[in-house]
Amino acid sequence: MDALIEAGLPVASSCHGEGICSKCAVLMTPQGTRTALEIQTAQRNKLPDIMRLSCQVFIDQDLTVATTYW
Ligand code: FES
Repeated sequence: MDALIEAGLPVASSCHGEGICSKCAVLMTPQGTRTALEIQTAQRNKLPDIMRLSCQVFIDQDLTVATTYW
């Protein structure tokens, strides 16, 4: 999420990156592995399995990211 904001892309959020709201969800390639918090939040908010919470992603390689509101 921080990298997206630094790149000038808007990222929705109401929990300020705490991993609770799911509003920062994005499609990522490669998708990587969800954290335990992401799994819990995704289940609670009925987030599709293909979505990641951008605030919980630690970048260690180049990614392609998309969301519905860009
Ligand atoms: S900003 Fe709320 S879950 Fe990511």
